[in-house]
Amino acid sequence: MHPTRRNFLKNVTAASALLATNGIAKPFNIIKDLKKISPNDKIRFATIGMGIQGNSDTRSAIRSTPEAEFVAAADLYDGRLTRVKEVYGKDIFTTRDYRQILDRKDIDAVLIVTPDHWHDHITKAALKAGKNVYCEKPMVHHIDEGHSVIDAWKKAGKTMQVGSQSVSSASYKEAKKLVQAGEIGEINFVESNNDRFNSIGAWNYSIPTDASVDTLDWDTFLGDAPKVPFDSKRFFRWRNYRDYGTGVAGDLFVHLITGVHFVTGSLGPERILSSGELSYWKDGRDVPDVLVSILDYPKTDLHSKFQMVLRVNFANAGSIKNNTRIVGTEGQIEFTQNNLVLNKKKLPKAPGFAGYDSYNTFSESQQKEFKIQYDAQYPEDTRRVEPVKEIKFEAPKGDDADANHFRDFFDNVKKGSLGTIEDPIFAFRAAAPVLACNKSYFEKKIVNWDPVEMKLKKK
Ligand SMILES: NC(=O)c1ccc[n+]([C@@H]2O[C@H](COP(=O)([O-])OP(=O)(O)OC[C@H]3O[C@@H](n4cnc5c(N)ncnc54)[C@H](O)[C@@H]3O)[C@@H](O)[C@H]2O)c1
Repeated sequence: MHPTRRNFLKNVTAASALLATNGIAKPFNIIKDLKKISPNDKIRFATIGMGIQGNSDTRSAIRSTPEAEFVAAADLYDGRLTRVKEVYGKDIFTTRDYRQILDRKDIDAVLIVTPDHWHDHITKAALKAGKNVYCEKPMVHHIDEGHSVIDAWKKAGKTMQVGSQSVSSASYKEAKKLVQAGEIGEINFVESNNDRFNSIGAWNYSIPTDASVDTLDWDTFLGDAPKVPFDSKRFFRWRNYRDYGTGVAGDLFVHLITGVHFVTGSLGPERILSSGELSYWKDGRDVPDVLVSILDYPKTDLHSKFQMVLRVNFANAGSIKNNTRIVGTEGQIEFTQNNLVLNKKKLPKAPGFAGYDSYNTFSESQQKEFKIQYDAQYPEDTRRVEPVKEIKFEAPKGDDADANHFRDFFDNVKKGSLGTIEDPIFAFRAAAPVLACNKSYFEKKIVNWDPVEMKLKKK
């Protein structure tokens, strides 16, 4: 660790804390005269939670920039710590206790890739310990945890990025450009889904044969969840239980809504209603495997009022087409992380008559009279139909959203800036409505949300 760089990181992040906005996410300005980290400097990072995504994130972080150096890992299951040394090298520091990582002064950033119920606790502790934080989605397990994470971030003045990486893909950026340029007119409807039909896709991940209270730290895993006897399914398939996970809404809707907020610039919905069921995977889980939610978005300076329908069906044995479709008054845009299709279609001013229309039922004299009036009201130029246009976009080969998302994080760490693409305010505006989708499902009621103040509302 280079002392000068440490002071540098400390000073610039404190200064940039001043840039944190109060409540509404605004683009952050980068402080102009910041000293850059010298090219030889590394950003040393550790990963807390070395499961499936912890490994994927670690690889993405390493790939994102040569300046990122993976130095330490924490996990509660010994097998995963052994695996860290097998894959990344025997010199990587490993521990069951994430606090040992937060105590280390030579670590600049942590990746928090634990189950959802640990996100807020470790994030706040890490920020307090002066670490820059990359936290997986959803940022919080419960709605009432959001503001304390945002406050901790502002107080610490450290860089924080949340992990819905699709917003760092070329395709989502193109979608944003097109929608914000008005290519589809006024938005009135959005739908997005993420269906699956396979056991692993339905979160039934493999359980190691040596899983026991000796090889893993069960008590710490439980954290703030109710104390229950050891159950390897709860540890390795935690998504199936509300005590640790956030169901299909927190796991998958959150990616969909994050994308829509990124593309439209929306702050969030004001009314949320869900319906669903546990239809197929009746394996002891306490969350639905089919969930449909309707979210009503109010008009803002950036978009008109629209409805969004989100769906996950883990028992879709029919055709599966997972994408997001944003429909407007002049066309629609359909996109995934890899490509998009924009269809433009604009109605002429003249409404037309005849065909399947009441005109044909009028008397002959009334039809004549009607036509005279119509011709006077709608001259030729108001009848012209613009040709339907289709514009396709393919992400450039090698576009790597995961690495891009980390590069954005590390670039901001280097600059000491809080202005990541998915900062905690933006991330909470995505997490809270999807947690409200669960609230609506479990409590069987409409949930009202204030997207500006980021608070639940009674009405
Ligand atoms: N961005 C994405 O595309 C994406 C994809 C998958 C998962 N995720 C997110 O990543 C997170 C992890 O998911 P996963 O599939 O990797 O889960 P996983 O079960 O494979 O791994 C979680 C790991 O966290 C460890 N852990 C639990 N509590 C801990 C604690 N207090 N301290 C240290 N380690 C702890 C466990 O031992 C486990 O190895 C979740 O929040 C999930 O939503 C994001």
